[in-house]
Amino acid sequence: MPHLLRIDASARLSGSVSRDLGDVFAAAWTARPGHALSRRDLARAPVPHIDQPTIAGFFSPAEARTPELRAATALSDALIAEVQAADALLITTAMYNFGVPSALKAWIDHVVRIHRTVAFDGRDFAGIAHPRRAIVVAAYGAGGYEAGARFAAADFVTPYLRHVLGFIGIPSVEAVVIQATNADPAGLDGALAAARVRLRELAMG
Ligand SMILES: Cc1cc2nc3c(=O)[nH]c(=O)nc-3n(C[C@H](O)[C@H](O)[C@H](O)COP(=O)(O)O)c2cc1C
Repeated sequence: MPHLLRIDASARLSGSVSRDLGDVFAAAWTARPGHALSRRDLARAPVPHIDQPTIAGFFSPAEARTPELRAATALSDALIAEVQAADALLITTAMYNFGVPSALKAWIDHVVRIHRTVAFDGRDFAGIAHPRRAIVVAAYGAGGYEAGARFAAADFVTPYLRHVLGFIGIPSVEAVVIQATNADPAGLDGALAAARVRLRELAMG
């Protein structure tokens, strides 16, 4: 049964463009026979930042892991288990200060982990995450992030997520980005309609 893990990162629980578009993908996905969905909402249930014991646990060999170190990595273990149980990821996110919300970055710091989602032989890295696809839905308040425009060099959301998801071994990352969400809402209608069409197509793929 194809299983989608949906991760939401906008701090807005209502009026969020990225969440609303994520709903479109999720509805099309779950309408397909046998397609399952689970969710992790990083605004409703924030993941704490990693701390010193977590990092010590990450880098301790299994035989050296004390109960304290095991406890310190238990959340990371659980978050990684969710990822490894999924065939596809849907990440919906806002742009905050040109990057991803810190809630999403905190999740990434638990999930991108040596020997769990990334193999490392002392020289080379190889992604070992199970999902074969990721769909990123991102909302940016300003416009001008396309090539040659004023903020072209300032998009640290979609290129970053593409890189990180590729690093853990997810071969296909599709991004649907809506820009200028803070501008005149009427001007967004066409872009939102096109994004909905694209997301329904992606959910069929
Ligand atoms: C704290 C904060 C920082 C933001 N920083 C940026 C930014 O750097 N660039 C930008 O284009 N929009 C920025 N925005 C606008 C959001 O990206 C925009 O409102 C977007 O639609 C949020 O996603 P959502 O609609 O899914 O909540 C910021 C909004 C907030 C609340």
